[in-house]
Amino acid sequence: MTVGTSITRREGYNKLTGRAQYIDDLSFPEMLHGKTVRSTIAHGQIKNIIFDPAFDWSVVTIADWRDIPGRNIVALIEEDQPLLAKDFALHYAEPILLVAAETKEIAETAVSHIKIDYEELPAVFSIQDSLKSSVRIYGENNVFKKYVIDQGDVVEGFRESTHVIEGEYIVRHQEQLYIEPQGVIAVPREDGGMTVYGSMQCPYYVHKAIKANMALPDDRVNVIQTVTGGGFGGKEEYPSVIAGHAAVLARKAGRPVKMIYDRAEDLAATPKRHPAIIKHKTGLDQDGKINAVEIEIDMDGGAYATLSSVVLSRAAIHALGPYKSPNVRIAARAIATNTPPNGAFRGFGVPQACFACELQMERIAKQLRIDPIDLRRNNLLRLGDITATGQRLDYSVSAEQVLDQALEHSRFYEKRDLYERQRKEDPDSPTIKGIGVSLFMHGAGFTGSGEDKMKGQAGATLTKDGRVKLLTASTEIGQGTRTIFVQIVASEIGIPIDLIEMEEPDTSKVPDSGPTVASRTCMIIGGVMQRVARTIKEALTEFVAERFGNTSIEIKDGQFVDSEGKSLIAFQEAAREYQEVRGALEVFHRYSSPPGIKWDDDEYKGDAYPVFSWAADVIEVEVDHDTYETTVLNITTAQDIGRAINPVLAAGQVEGGTLQAVGYALLEEVVSDKGRMLNNSLTNYIIPTSVDTPEIHTILVENEYPFGPFGAKGVGELPMDGPAPAIAAAILNATGVLVNELPITPERLEKSWRGL
Ligand code: MOS
Repeated sequence: MTVGTSITRREGYNKLTGRAQYIDDLSFPEMLHGKTVRSTIAHGQIKNIIFDPAFDWSVVTIADWRDIPGRNIVALIEEDQPLLAKDFALHYAEPILLVAAETKEIAETAVSHIKIDYEELPAVFSIQDSLKSSVRIYGENNVFKKYVIDQGDVVEGFRESTHVIEGEYIVRHQEQLYIEPQGVIAVPREDGGMTVYGSMQCPYYVHKAIKANMALPDDRVNVIQTVTGGGFGGKEEYPSVIAGHAAVLARKAGRPVKMIYDRAEDLAATPKRHPAIIKHKTGLDQDGKINAVEIEIDMDGGAYATLSSVVLSRAAIHALGPYKSPNVRIAARAIATNTPPNGAFRGFGVPQACFACELQMERIAKQLRIDPIDLRRNNLLRLGDITATGQRLDYSVSAEQVLDQALEHSRFYEKRDLYERQRKEDPDSPTIKGIGVSLFMHGAGFTGSGEDKMKGQAGATLTKDGRVKLLTASTEIGQGTRTIFVQIVASEIGIPIDLIEMEEPDTSKVPDSGPTVASRTCMIIGGVMQRVARTIKEALTEFVAERFGNTSIEIKDGQFVDSEGKSLIAFQEAAREYQEVRGALEVFHRYSSPPGIKWDDDEYKGDAYPVFSWAADVIEVEVDHDTYETTVLNITTAQDIGRAINPVLAAGQVEGGTLQAVGYALLEEVVSDKGRMLNNSLTNYIIPTSVDTPEIHTILVENEYPFGPFGAKGVGELPMDGPAPAIAAAILNATGVLVNELPITPERLEKSWRGL
């Protein structure tokens, strides 16, 4: 069986040899190049657009909001965001006009000859300012969304507590930094429709958006994902914006239009991880058991609603991390500011919530002088326990297992003693070492009733030569979708992987599997794929049984065999004959929740996710006394993601996510002035590179989930959640200083350390 083995990734060869065609490698006859004219202010009324008479405007196509044939919205959840600003700009870099020309250079020159006059309005750039200011960005109070999760009685809970400890945690923007920037090509069709090619996670999101903008029916819009150089959430919602822009230009010009952002534009204009302020108040009894928890989360959504409500919801549900408390109140708000909208980024609210939760555990341990490991062990969720939303954990609960594994493999206690000894013996050493832990969980799939509403679809068909072709809109964005789906189907049917092909992710050819987000691809759509495979197997087995007059047959290594193991017919031949006799075989299934899953959207109570993945990080750091620089020396991570369909790809997900989170913890800082990103280049927006990469020891703990394909759960986002608090805990261990803000830059550490 190929599940559980590390076959090479399917698209790897083409990527390594340069054969893979990314969006910028594609070209169409008569194709133009599009550019965007963006707001240069954070908030204001558009008064006048001046086209410099010195420029020859006959060589370009200009489009504004009036050229949108359908609705001037970015169709996502709410409809507050215009595709092109009409009267007002609500944030810096907001798209106002579009320009297309024969070359990118001409388009850029044209853009530089357009000047927009504004009447500037007061603007707000922080959560605090937005809440107290009279500047209105969204609704009556600038609150996009609010959730309250309630369990037990927190007032009573705090009254009964021996200790009450409060902490505040602050996290900021982070950029997804996919290697390939945003890019699309829109091609107008003879039937009046539009075909869009692009770098994206969610072809059907773009399909929905283009239909609304172009006022076209389903079958006149066709969206094709091209080979995509990374997404990390950053290509969840924004492709709908850039695709809409290209489509508007293409329609006006009557020619294909390519739009590719350069890095500076991509960094300045596209969504980032939500900044947040998170407050914890924890009541504990005298044995260090948590008795009451109050958590307030305020997230900065930027100027439009986009996905903030769902990011917020995930943050709220994960706010208490892998711990239990009889009394809980979690209040979460997403707030509007005059900054570019923040959006999906691997982790989707949980890295923020997890940083606060895990550092609060460190704070409690420090104040109560208890071992932070004991504190965690004393409060962690076990099988049968109830989460903050009232979900009873019936399957695959591994908080304690991953903690034990990470501690053991890292030799945590031994190292902690050693570093303590070293710090005592050599107090004048220029560098000091410390070690820290984080424990965390991440729900797989959409939150709450999301999967039941979506009913994600996948299918398969037989090719003429008797192979199985998989039909899904779940995209390959480097994480291994194409490889693991092939493994799941091959293993379920019992055929070699080379008998499986994959249809290209083209909305005219594949069903809507839902977006490639939310750690849902393997568990949710992989599970649907497994059912599709089972149906194909059953149909062919029944056919072969009838043909050979033998009902006790099965498929082994691509052969139908009888009960003695004698080969009757090859799978491929049987699949060809099946089609000759019975015609085409096309199988589709939709996701349906496992039995017993219940979620109440109004009360925000119930089974928030079908199941959770669990992980623990142990991180060792070295802190420089003189420069306040922190170097990560070593990371040990134990992650329960259920069955690993492809262990090498799964470990790759873990390592990549972990390193991305090292950047979040120590390096990545968006510097802004009035909502305008100042360091929008890779020379000064610093991410970890290979030289900054510590040893990462990954332990896959495979606590199988009975309703996942072959026991698999989600892996995409989990590894992103834990490293930042583990690094902060290691710094605390080394220095005695708890830095409650990210990123922990030398400047910020110095400030905390010296009590400035
Ligand atoms: Mo994701 S951050 O759910 O694309």
